[in-house]
Amino acid sequence: NLSDQHSLVSNWVGELRSTEIQTDRMRFRRNLERIGEIAAYEISKLLEWEEKEITTPLGTSPTKMLKAQPVLATILRAGLPLHQGLLNYFDRADNAFISAYRKHHRDGSFEISLDYVSCPSLENRVVIIADPMLATGSSLVKTVQYLRDEGLPSEIHIVCAIACTVGIEYVLRSEPKVKIWCGAIDDELTAKGYIVPGLGDAGDLAYG
Ligand code: PRP
Repeated sequence: NLSDQHSLVSNWVGELRSTEIQTDRMRFRRNLERIGEIAAYEISKLLEWEEKEITTPLGTSPTKMLKAQPVLATILRAGLPLHQGLLNYFDRADNAFISAYRKHHRDGSFEISLDYVSCPSLENRVVIIADPMLATGSSLVKTVQYLRDEGLPSEIHIVCAIACTVGIEYVLRSEPKVKIWCGAIDDELTAKGYIVPGLGDAGDLAYG
């Protein structure tokens, strides 16, 4: 949980949730982006580093540099601002884009449809997936399963703004090796798959 230690993330999640503040679309997107930036920083601590001799105008400095850039994958469309935040920090990363949406049936149930995927080889790469809402977890599980068929990643991280407990449990049961980073954890998921208190529909709030 990225807002565990009274960090600014908690502040930004509060603004994302607030009915008064979330009407400001630019701030809504920017807050998601900022959470992505902090997540990138936290995840970077777990990645592999190598020492390089950096030449400065006055000498050389042994400096720890990132061994390899991750692949940043976003679930359209609400994942885009979070993805941009990750990309601001992992600025040489490769990128993957996935469209996943809820296809609603007449009886009120829904399934996740994965229509468009554009993605580099993931073999042995660190993959970071951005999606602000982890509700039932179905979109993420389907995405992870799909991505794994594109080459076996060495690690998979999931970054979201708000996750709900049952969704986290479902993802970890299906994909025990993934690491989930989230801005806040909510307890309730409605029968229609909405997180409560949550923040509403992140895609609509970011893009209309
Ligand atoms: C939201 C959200 C996730 C998904 C979460 O997307 O961004 O992708 O629902 O639900 P799940 O955990 O139950 O699968 P939405 O379908 O609203 O699409 P949008 O981002 O294009 O608005």
